Amino acid sequence: PSEALFAGQHIVITAGPTREAIDPVRYLSNHSSGRMGFALAAAAQQLGAQVTLIAGPCQLTTPAGVKRVDVVSANDMANAVDEVIADADIFIGCAAVADYRPEIAVTQKIKKSQDTMHIELVKNPDILAKVAARDNPPFTIGFAAETHDVVNYARGKLERKHLAMIAANDVSNSDIGFNSDDNAMTLLWRDNAGEIQQTQLARAAKQTIAEQILRHAAQIKN
Ligand code: C5P
Repeated sequence: PSEALFAGQHIVITAGPTREAIDPVRYLSNHSSGRMGFALAAAAQQLGAQVTLIAGPCQLTTPAGVKRVDVVSANDMANAVDEVIADADIFIGCAAVADYRPEIAVTQKIKKSQDTMHIELVKNPDILAKVAARDNPPFTIGFAAETHDVVNYARGKLERKHLAMIAANDVSNSDIGFNSDDNAMTLLWRDNAGEIQQTQLARAAKQTIAEQILRHAAQIKN
């Protein structure tokens, strides 16, 4: 049964990987499946929100009642977010945005010749940090996938990117995270006194974790 926790609220979510073109047939990307972001979109919709899901290339069904915008590269994703962010109440950056892209995406297929080749990479825009830096930003939630020192890195990101909340997980454990059905998370946020608080979400299906993240956000947002 649907619930009105987020009635009248617009939640914008990024999900999946991005693809950064090298030439017309090749790209750089990562192993993100998009499942966590799609689970968040489904849960947010069930909790009564209007949901815009901005998805990089992934093979997943759009959750019922969710508006999906498909994108390819980090720059495409940044532009799609810009178009809808002004009236967003909550932004969740769940996408595994490629940190770098080839400086030049050549228009013709690169031919095999030399034994070594160099591709110059340039940094992509940080979509999450840009949203959090807006005047009157939405309640902005980030994700941190780490292989070690998970909570420390997440705390650093919460502060550096000026997030309202961050969900951190250990991707060195293949039972959870990236291509798994399950996840386990540490949520970190800043309380009214400015102190960073944290809580643990035990290993569970991504759908369960998604709902817990949203309920927690609703609690600390108000
Ligand atoms: O700094 P790092 O990439 O680990 O931060 C992860 C968080 O930042 C995730 O929430 C991810 O969606 C977001 N991000 C982004 N744009 C980037 C890089 C990361 O929105 N270019």
